[in-house]
Amino acid sequence: MTIWIKGGRVIDPGKRIIEDLDVIVEDGKIKALLPPGSFKEAGEKVIVVNAEGKLVLPGLVDMHVHLREPGFEYKETIETGTRAAVAGGFTAVACMPNTEPVNDCRAVTEFILEQAHRAGLSKVCPVACITVGQKGERLIELGEVREAGAVGISDDGYPVKNSELMRRAIEYAAYHGLTVISHCEDTSLAGKGVMHEGVVSTRMGLRGIPAASEEVMVYREIALAKLTGCPVHIAHVSTAGSVELIKRAKDQGVRVTAETAPHYFTLDHRAVEGFDTNAKVNPPLRTPQDVDAIREGLKQGVIDVIATDHAPHSPLEKEVEFDLAAPGMIGLQSALPLTLALVREGLLELLDAVAKLTCNPSRILGIEGGEISEGCVADLTIVDPDVEYLFDRAQILSKSKNSPFLGKRLRGWAEVTIVGGKIVWERVG
Ligand code: DOR
Repeated sequence: MTIWIKGGRVIDPGKRIIEDLDVIVEDGKIKALLPPGSFKEAGEKVIVVNAEGKLVLPGLVDMHVHLREPGFEYKETIETGTRAAVAGGFTAVACMPNTEPVNDCRAVTEFILEQAHRAGLSKVCPVACITVGQKGERLIELGEVREAGAVGISDDGYPVKNSELMRRAIEYAAYHGLTVISHCEDTSLAGKGVMHEGVVSTRMGLRGIPAASEEVMVYREIALAKLTGCPVHIAHVSTAGSVELIKRAKDQGVRVTAETAPHYFTLDHRAVEGFDTNAKVNPPLRTPQDVDAIREGLKQGVIDVIATDHAPHSPLEKEVEFDLAAPGMIGLQSALPLTLALVREGLLELLDAVAKLTCNPSRILGIEGGEISEGCVADLTIVDPDVEYLFDRAQILSKSKNSPFLGKRLRGWAEVTIVGGKIVWERVG
């Protein structure tokens, strides 16, 4: 089976190439990149994908999602989550371990990979826990989960409070080739907070989470990366202070990388006014000054990755009082248009925006993908950068609909998603 992606503009952010090329896919690989129109169709079994006026990107990689299975299938399953992923242009997602049971062993890692295989949509890269049961007391068997197919470790949802334990996790993870993804939160400072601590929380009478609760832990991770000489990746950066700390650490050569999510560069804490529980997330939406700093951090390359932190929750957890609502928002289908908005605004170069969704996360996770060259795996996303759709419930393929972007018109969508040489998503209409 051959796929001929015809007339598109190929973007390879790693090689910093933007070029009009036809892409020929065969046997799951990119067979050839040819000048437009030069491909001579030989056999009958050629599927032609018209990519005129479209961008042909390496398959997008989301290094931070919650697929909820096993245990919370009423919010999302691996099947529904990966369907939302491919509809959003993602060919690979790294799933966090805060399921039930949590992913702290071989059996759960293998189960996730089996379910992903059965769904046959995006690739799924399991992230196992750092500590047994995410309890922060004892390290999991890193060699075992690595062997089973985990790509990283994280206690996401919770911080690892014990610094000595985190130091050992960072050292052992480097030995096993696992990426450490740190959820930075000082829970004693965050307390019972439900939104950012600032003027809006004061006005609304809601308990706040100070920026310092994130920054204290970002600083600790940087200190541990420095101490051990091993890499650490900071998840969901939300504050100006975190950006500043990461910038300084990178300038000093510390092996730290960072991600943020579209909601942190698009929305600020005023989105919570009206008590919209879809705007409740952890870390919380911060001030307009923080949003500016996140955007600047993306521009300067301080923040390497845009990840969604896709966190589906059912109406049971969201249609309740703000104080009681679960934190988190879905993001797999809105991430690409919200990122392309930064390009249209002139904040990011197209190549840099694409790098943050492709080669940067695949490099940090140590997985294949993120490039378009002859012989490499055919994970590809064809994007119409100009098409605009209303982001409504009918568009959302995730089982949960908890997005603060519902009802917004978003521009720039994935039209065709190809995983391992197979078309797994095609937008109709
Ligand atoms: O808002 C969040 N939701 N932040 C997290 O760290 C966890 C996530 C979830 O699992 O719902």
